[in-house]
Amino acid sequence: MQSKVTEIAADTYRISTFHSDYGIQFNQFLIKDDEPFLMHTGFKKTFGATFEGVRSIIDPAALRWIGFSHFESDECGALNDWLRVAPRAQALCSVVGAMVNVNDFADRTPRPLADDELVQTGRHRLRFRATPQVPHGWDAGMFFDESEKTLLCSDLFFQPGDPEPVIESAIVERARDAIEVNLAGPLAKDMPYTPYTNSTLLRLAALEPSTLAVMHGSSFRGDCGSAIRNLAAAIDELLGQPDSRI
Ligand SMILES: [Fe+2]
Ligand SMILES: [Fe+2]
Repeated sequence: MQSKVTEIAADTYRISTFHSDYGIQFNQFLIKDDEPFLMHTGFKKTFGATFEGVRSIIDPAALRWIGFSHFESDECGALNDWLRVAPRAQALCSVVGAMVNVNDFADRTPRPLADDELVQTGRHRLRFRATPQVPHGWDAGMFFDESEKTLLCSDLFFQPGDPEPVIESAIVERARDAIEVNLAGPLAKDMPYTPYTNSTLLRLAALEPSTLAVMHGSSFRGDCGSAIRNLAAAIDELLGQPDSRI
């Protein structure tokens, strides 16, 4: 398994690994800076492919921060492998994430982040947004790179297959189709629709990002605020109604 590396914003690299068993991409994002930051580790079993991708950009031992949205294997399964090869690396996660999972799971103490807390990595300023249950998980959060206006948005805008690294149109249509298709499959209901879903998405849209760094599928460049608002409307339509099948 090999990773494909693409610079999607200044010093922001998408490390994409297509997993044929799942039929989807698992994308990690590296921000190259004084204190390099990796968003998601990928699976423990694909650590080698992610490692080679990172090594094509920086010395992996120099990695300082490892952020992720929520506690799942594709988000942080290889966390301890990274802590082993990068002696100064530390996980960044929500306060809930640290208390519920990461304090116990990680071989080195994580740095818990409160909503709106800032992590300065050098030139880049990463703002943490706590987003409980969006895309899913009590502990969920996202990072917004204020310097490049890149939102590292985890599973939001999920698209299946092995699409191009970056697109500039049609991301909402693709993401909406994927939600609709998934409703008929075993992975339905990945996003719990709560009284806070819409306001959480609108708060992300208000950041008015220029780039969406998407974990599964193409990243997007363009009017990301409108894209998130349109996705919120699609989610409300598809997931916001009682399901007669249960
Ligand atoms: Fe997830
Ligand atoms: Fe994911």
